[in-house]
Amino acid sequence: MKIRALILTLACALVTGSAAFASDAETELGAKMEKMGGAFRTIRRQVADASKNADTLAKVATLKENAEASLKFEPALKKEKPAADQKKFVENYRAEMKKFVELCSKLEAALKANDNALATKICGQMGDAQKAGHKEYKKEDKKKK
Ligand code: HEM
Repeated sequence: MKIRALILTLACALVTGSAAFASDAETELGAKMEKMGGAFRTIRRQVADASKNADTLAKVATLKENAEASLKFEPALKKEKPAADQKKFVENYRAEMKKFVELCSKLEAALKANDNALATKICGQMGDAQKAGHKEYKKEDKKKK
């Protein structure tokens, strides 16, 4: 009984702890982005290695899922734009994010075809899209990341 109580306490501590450390994102979009960041780090590291394709595909699924979820939100930077420009700003952001989702699908197809050279190239394009997306739509104080 005592051991059970101990296990339960440890399990609770683990859940609470991981929730606290899961993300320091300040917005819902930021939380999706943090998840994309974790997946993309691994993808970049192992995209050229065909023996890791199954795992890379799983990470691409996470990347794509969170990129699709990001379409529902608006960048925090919107509030700093003149009222007349805000609608267009969000439309442009969504169009860019849609293109990123398409890159995820292309990466998926390349990995399924075991074309790791193409997958590596697409991964580079994703890095460029990330850089461009952050330059245009992410607030200045968050660009360090
Ligand atoms: C490989 C692709 C990408 C990765 C790994 C990535 C990762 C990240 C990370 C780690 C953050 C900081 C999250 C936080 O703590 O708040 C962030 C923020 C942000 N990213 Fe990305 N990102 C990617 C692509 C994009 C693209 C394509 C766009 C735009 C089309 C974009 C727009 C933003 C915006 C707007 C924020 C600030 C969040 C907010 O305004 O609430 N990101 N991203």
